Amino acid sequence: PGLGLTLWLPPGAAASDAPSCDPQAAPIVGGSARLQRQGQMLVYQCPEGQFPYPRPVRECRSNGRWSPLNPPGGRPLAKAECRAIQCPGPLEFDNGHFHPRQPRYNISQTLTFECFEGYTLRGPHNRTCLPNGKWSGGMAICDDGEGQCPDPGIPIGATKDGQHYRVEDRVRYRCGRGLVMFGSKERTCQESGAWSGTEPECRDPSTYDTPQEVSSAFIASLSETVEVADPNRTTSENVKRRIRIEAGGSMNIYLVIDASDSVGEGNFSRARDVLVQLIEKISSYGVFPRYGVLTFATDPKIVVKTVEPESSDADWVSTKLGELKYDSHALRSGTNTRAALQAVLNMIIQQEQDEIRKGHKVAPVANSTRHVLVLMTDGETPLYPQTQLHPPRAGPHD
Ligand SMILES: *[C@@H]1O[C@H](CO)[C@@H](O)[C@H](O)[C@H]1NC(C)=O
Ligand SMILES: *[C@@H]1O[C@H](CO)[C@@H](O)[C@H](O)[C@H]1NC(C)=O
Ligand SMILES: *[C@@H]1O[C@H](CO)[C@@H](O)[C@H](O)[C@H]1NC(C)=O
Ligand SMILES: *[C@@H]1O[C@H](CO)[C@@H](O)[C@H](O)[C@H]1NC(C)=O
Ligand SMILES: *[C@@H]1O[C@H](CO)[C@@H](O)[C@H](O)[C@H]1NC(C)=O
Repeated sequence: PGLGLTLWLPPGAAASDAPSCDPQAAPIVGGSARLQRQGQMLVYQCPEGQFPYPRPVRECRSNGRWSPLNPPGGRPLAKAECRAIQCPGPLEFDNGHFHPRQPRYNISQTLTFECFEGYTLRGPHNRTCLPNGKWSGGMAICDDGEGQCPDPGIPIGATKDGQHYRVEDRVRYRCGRGLVMFGSKERTCQESGAWSGTEPECRDPSTYDTPQEVSSAFIASLSETVEVADPNRTTSENVKRRIRIEAGGSMNIYLVIDASDSVGEGNFSRARDVLVQLIEKISSYGVFPRYGVLTFATDPKIVVKTVEPESSDADWVSTKLGELKYDSHALRSGTNTRAALQAVLNMIIQQEQDEIRKGHKVAPVANSTRHVLVLMTDGETPLYPQTQLHPPRAGPHD
């Protein structure tokens, strides 16, 4: 999937020859609008529990008008409006039933799940629609325990193909209309009794993650990353132990920081300091991954490459990161996330060539290395959050 609409001014586009648009001409019903990028961008905000429809951001076009409000598959709207956030409804549920049945649910409505006889409920009995448009808790699954892998379940808003859960069996997921898939759309039952990939999720584009969700997902994903790389799969051990096993650089961590002018110097420095702390935290576990560090605005700037020998020296990387200055991007009008991710991909390709040159038949970077990407951005590229990064040869660990 692409990044959708990427807003960035080409190098050389100075404020003087930029078009000007009237913010008064593009109000939002029920919310507020603010200008960014020297008046080139209008950002809508709504009260909690609502989202700007049909889109959160408009750009000033060369004809002096704001970009039109085309809802997906609909006719252009005259005015943007704040709409109530809702949670999607289940499209399918195996071996049980749920109620109430609605296409969409209001915030704080509850869904209750029950299983048919012979099936045991895994996951919560009730799930509540949260103010960010997501359901509380994890998947509710009715499982009879007959498969070699547990029933992988069906995320709310998705349909599933595949009813057998023996080794090598596959399930495929699709999201309902207007929802965006996160996680693996296809999973295979592995000999270990676990499904490949990660649990999929179907999200409405208006949903967002709360800081608490980001924090717990980040820890879970970091420890899972390390755990999968550990052939012994000692799930009962704590994160610290598992991460320790990972020592030796078979994990790459890419730290990518948005330095565009919408971020501002204060938030840039905060993002940088958070990442310095992250590096310290990780090395306190006795893990020494390789780091790749880059900043980006209209163009990416590489600070540390994973092929540099010092890239696994946490102190050296922290120092390089700590020295970063916001104003190093002289012309920093744009937020070119795509170019930044491309730069990360190029780093992986370079490391692969490097490893092959050093005599590996199959470059570990493309086969067994775990890749962790931390992108610090204000998200002011209208944003289609799912950006999947594939290493040069997608292996089982991408
Ligand atoms: C959801 O909210 C809308 C608007 O507030 C309301 O009209 C509708 O009755 C609500 N539906 C349910 C099931 O609560
Ligand atoms: C689930 O919700 C129903 C009402 O919606 C309530 O009666 C029940 O106690 C709840 N069950 C649990 C386990 O929270
Ligand atoms: C896996 O466990 C065995 C036995 O406890 C141990 O000898 C071996 O070193 C472990 N392997 C790894 C990669 O930790
Ligand atoms: C970070 O950005 C937000 C939103 O633009 C702003 O309100 C806040 O003051 C900024 N923080 C710092 C430290 O600059
Ligand atoms: C990764 O390497 C292992 C061992 O060398 C090999 O068995 C496996 O097929 C490789 N996977 C890919 C995707 O190249």
